[in-house]
Parts: sequence; C-alpha cells; structure tokens
Amino acid sequence: MPLAPHDLAGAIPVTLTINGRDHPLMLDPRTTLLDALREQLGLTGTKKGCDHGQCGACTLHLEGERVLACLTLAAQAEGRGITTIEGLAPEDGTLHAVQAAFLAEDAFQCGYCTPGQIMSAVACIREGHAGSDAEIREYMAGNLCRCGAYPNIVAAVRRAGLDAAVRRAGLDAAVRRAAQEVQA
Ligand code: FES
Ligand code: FES
Repeated sequence: MPLAPHDLAGAIPVTLTINGRDHPLMLDPRTTLLDALREQLGLTGTKKGCDHGQCGACTLHLEGERVLACLTLAAQAEGRGITTIEGLAPEDGTLHAVQAAFLAEDAFQCGYCTPGQIMSAVACIREGHAGSDAEIREYMAGNLCRCGAYPNIVAAVRRAGLDAAVRRAGLDAAVRRAAQEVQA
C-alpha cells in the first residue's frame, strides 16, 4: 500500500534490488522488508505467517544468504541483492530444481509455507547441509508447516540435494576431461 501524503514526512528513499531489478521507494524507516515486498511492490510470494521470526514463511535470500524478511528492515537491504521466490526460476519458464523436487515429492498441502520452505531448501543445499535426512531436518527446522508435510519436504530436499550433487559431479568430470584434453 503506498504511503499516504501525511506519512511521507518521515519517509526515506530506499532502493531495493529484487530479482535483478531496482525498485526505488519512499518508506517509513520502520518498514520491514516483508511489508515493502508485499504491500509496496505487490510481491506476495514471500508469505507472512507469524511476523515475529518464528515460522520461516517469509524466508528469502539476501546476497545469497537466507534471512527472515519479517525481521529485516527494508532499509537494511538497500544495495544488497534480494532474491524472492518470484525470481528463483530461470526466465525460460522452467522450474528451479528445488521447485521441481517439491512437485515431484508432493511436498505441500495448502502451500502457504512452501515459498519459504523452498527458499530455505535452496540455501540448505547450497550450504552443504542436505547430506542426510537428520541434517535436512536440522537445517530446515526454522520453517514450520502447519499441514505437517514434513516427510515429503525432507524427501524433496533430499531429491534436490542429490540432483545438485550429481550435476556437480558431472561438471567436475567435464572440467577434468577438458583439462586432460588441454594437457594432452
Ligand atoms: S513471517 Fe517471518 S518468520 Fe514468520
Ligand atoms: S503446506 Fe500448509 S502450511 Fe505447509
């Protein structure tokens, strides 16, 4: 929701770089990143659950690290790359591998927690914390699911983590082959 004219007195300019695009805004300095996304920019893929840092529904990436948007001031995010669920998939219309894994494993029911789960899962895999189901549960523990889809969520993260490992191994092998060819 845009600021009303009488609210603009204390507003500060903040430019948010979201999914590769700059968004100049005038904001109350107390505006959270979550409210800026949802109410100022209409980016409602990042969900508001508790608004108190306890459910993980608002998880997004700031400079590649997962953060809770409800506990982050929009002004703190200025000049840092923000990735939301809307910017996760490639522009060619295909799904991100983690999104595809959630679909394949039926890892949601109502879907409200799903964007936060997926953003956490991407980070969990990138951080190297998808090595076992116990590790996945530990590093996904900040993301609650009121529908109790946890077994399927763990299966989806496991599947996407394995896919990522296979891709990395394939790339490593390709790089080794290319290096051997150069040396030959
Ligand atoms: S809405 Fe941010 S953690 Fe619940
Ligand atoms: S799928 Fe409903 S809250 Fe997780």
